[in-house]
Amino acid sequence: MKNIFLFAGLLLIGAYIISCKPQGTDPVAMGDVASVPVMTKEDSIKRGEYLSHIMGCNDCHTPKVMTEKGPALDMNRLLSGHPADEPLPAITDKKMIGPGQWVLFNLGQTSATGPWGTSFSANLTPDDTGLGAWTFENFEQAIRNGKFKGIDGSRMIMPPMPWQNYAAINDEDLANLWMYLKSIKPVKNVVPAYIPPGASM
Ligand code: HEC
Repeated sequence: MKNIFLFAGLLLIGAYIISCKPQGTDPVAMGDVASVPVMTKEDSIKRGEYLSHIMGCNDCHTPKVMTEKGPALDMNRLLSGHPADEPLPAITDKKMIGPGQWVLFNLGQTSATGPWGTSFSANLTPDDTGLGAWTFENFEQAIRNGKFKGIDGSRMIMPPMPWQNYAAINDEDLANLWMYLKSIKPVKNVVPAYIPPGASM
């Protein structure tokens, strides 16, 4: 008897959830993305912006400007990666880097040097020099599997990009993050190529 009530209860809850689905919204057109979030495009972009903030993408991918209060995000170059026209200062004492030594960041935190070599944060704007030619599948490959350019056979994405932490993001939020990145201002910036350890800088 108890079970019948439980079953009826579950049916009611199910019917309620189905009836709550928003009606007449403009669902995000994600092409061949498997899980389509039931959200308007605007809400998806907003959620993606929120995620980019709390996941810290700006820390490394947005160049900084100096203000009275210290370094601040350069909103004109939001998420455009390490600036091509900002060469790194020379590392005069090479003994300071390498295994068991220091990891060095530039002031804007857009580049770091450590035992893995020197990496430069990528341009995540929709410009051709950024994610312009990327598909959502490339983005997923990069974030979930750490593949550079989101291509199967390419090298692994280097530190300090914390893709291992992001890999568990749910499908909806991955799509929201993507929608946001597609919506921001395109910035032309060819980020310098990764420098392997020991190569001259
Ligand atoms: C601690 C610094 C840091 C943070 C935080 C960070 N990134 Fe990165 N990211 C990098 C660096 C450095 C690279 C380039 C690594 C390389 O060249 O192998 C990179 C590379 C990438 C790439 C691959 C680009 C390519 O051409 O293959 C994507 C995509 C990316 N980041 C997206 C994001 C997103 C989205 C966030 C926030 C959710 C984020 N990153 C947060 C430092 C960071």
